[in-house]
Amino acid sequence: METVVSGIRSTGNLHLGNYFGALRNFIKMQHENRCFFFIADYHSLTTHPDPKLLHHNVRQVLSEYLAAGLDPEASTIFVQSDVPEVTELYLLLNMHAYVGELEKTTSFKDKIRQQKNNVNAGLLTYPTLMAADILLHKANKVPVGKDQEQHLEMTRNFAKRFNSLYSVDYFPEPTAYNFGSELVKIPGLDGSGKMGKSEGNGLYLFDEPAVIRKKVMKAVTDQGPTEPNSVKHEAVENLFTILKVVSTPDTVAYFEEKHNNCEIRYGDLKKQLAEDIIAVTEPIRERIFDIQNDAEYLHKVVNMGAEKARESASKTVAEVREIMGFKKF
Ligand code: TYM
Repeated sequence: METVVSGIRSTGNLHLGNYFGALRNFIKMQHENRCFFFIADYHSLTTHPDPKLLHHNVRQVLSEYLAAGLDPEASTIFVQSDVPEVTELYLLLNMHAYVGELEKTTSFKDKIRQQKNNVNAGLLTYPTLMAADILLHKANKVPVGKDQEQHLEMTRNFAKRFNSLYSVDYFPEPTAYNFGSELVKIPGLDGSGKMGKSEGNGLYLFDEPAVIRKKVMKAVTDQGPTEPNSVKHEAVENLFTILKVVSTPDTVAYFEEKHNNCEIRYGDLKKQLAEDIIAVTEPIRERIFDIQNDAEYLHKVVNMGAEKARESASKTVAEVREIMGFKKF
């Protein structure tokens, strides 16, 4: 049995990247492992500090977690800020995190370009808070998308550094994980890199079927292949990447063959893709609304989660304090 920790920032509705990069793994792993899945509301403050939306967004992500099939009896589901022990571990780990290594992080370099007027210290130390989330429960597996690989490498470095500085074998070295295969990066349908909220190219679990059909039909493609077996244009490759996660292998093989024979009609591909996305999202969407409105249930879930997470967290923080030399008078 592995100890699994992962989270998603509470910056709004979840998109297909969140689902296939993270949430689907949570659901698959929850029954066989010791799992902690949380909503990273502290992390959301580095980019989206809005008191009017903070709680609403946490509630939204929580409802989507549950609607997608996360089981609060099987795993510990909690809100990051309900477990303040994480802030102490974050502080302690920051004492051994070097500014140079934090400044070199790709996500930090991206963010300082995106939000020039708000280059806050939270952005710089984002990887330390993420490491604290993970090490707080001494996790060894962290289900995430490919974009989080570097943060996991830093988490391992912080764990190794702590162990070696204090001559202990305390923290495990956690690895990024995708259930049974490589880490995934779900692309956007605008011909660009990854699907993301800030990229404005998301297909959301919350989107109605008509919205999904419309977004998919508008996806960027090329003029069509002109030579047999030619390399796909990046935008077309992106459609196939999404097709591979939502459709059957037969469907993928059918369209691959059509592309290879230069007989592909992108309209047909998009129609199929939209229907297969809807088959994944619709059952989830239908449950979101009911769960979102069940205040009593949500209250029960987060309280139960906070209690279980704090039990594990306070044990770690007490042990870390002892290792570092804090003593009671
Ligand atoms: P966030 O909210 O940016 O992303 C949440 C999860 O969704 C995955 N993801 C994707 N996967 C594949 N393709 C995409 N286009 C795509 N977009 C997003 C991310 O890889 C991630 O798994 N820093 C984390 C939140 C976090 C966390 C943690 C995760 C905070 N503390 C501790 C694990 C363990 C993040 O990127 O959130």
